[in-house]
Amino acid sequence: MSTYTVGYFVGSLARASINRKLARALTRLAPSELTMREIPIGELPLYSYDYDADYPPPARALKDAIAAVDAVLFVTPEYNRSIPGALKNAIDWGSRPWGQNSFARKPSAMIGTSPGMIGTAVGQQHLKSILSFCNSPQMNAIEAYIQFTPGLITDDGDVTVDSTAEFLRTYMTEFHGFITRVYMALPRQGT
Ligand SMILES: Cc1cc2nc3c(=O)[nH]c(=O)nc-3n(C[C@H](O)[C@H](O)[C@H](O)COP(=O)(O)O)c2cc1C
Repeated sequence: MSTYTVGYFVGSLARASINRKLARALTRLAPSELTMREIPIGELPLYSYDYDADYPPPARALKDAIAAVDAVLFVTPEYNRSIPGALKNAIDWGSRPWGQNSFARKPSAMIGTSPGMIGTAVGQQHLKSILSFCNSPQMNAIEAYIQFTPGLITDDGDVTVDSTAEFLRTYMTEFHGFITRVYMALPRQGT
């Protein structure tokens, strides 16, 4: 089986982020063929095309980090029925300068959790639209909208409900299969 490195974005900057707990759980439940590493977004200034000629260090680090991974995973809350501004800002940085879009042809998947019953479903539809424009091949199924109940995932990423743990394990296995199929169709070139 092929091995891949997945860079994951946590869409929340909150210290007690439930999506960060989810990201830790996914890291623990991912198949051994996937190496998981976070791509941090918290130090990025707000994007402007004034920076295009000379990206600041956090933005250069972001683009290098995306280039270094085979696929990206978005683990994000829904804010006001869309994605958090911090995550949109990170995607804007990654997508530019024009002609150097880091997401082009980079396989992606998304997942999120919120206390509400529809568990980030609306925000994810916005994210799908953004990533489509960025030309990222997206895993369409399985979808993952996780309703967070108290104690569902510990700070360390231990999932306390067996059926949820099983679902998340399946989700990561599906993502591995998806990445494999994308690269079978079109092998990665260069970095
Ligand atoms: C600015 C803001 C907007 C929010 N909007 C939504 C929303 O549209 N849908 C939703 O399910 N929860 C919404 N929430 C509640 C979040 O789901 C909840 O705060 C959750 O803990 C966010 O995930 P995080 O802890 O990983 O940041 C919102 C929270 C904030 C702070």
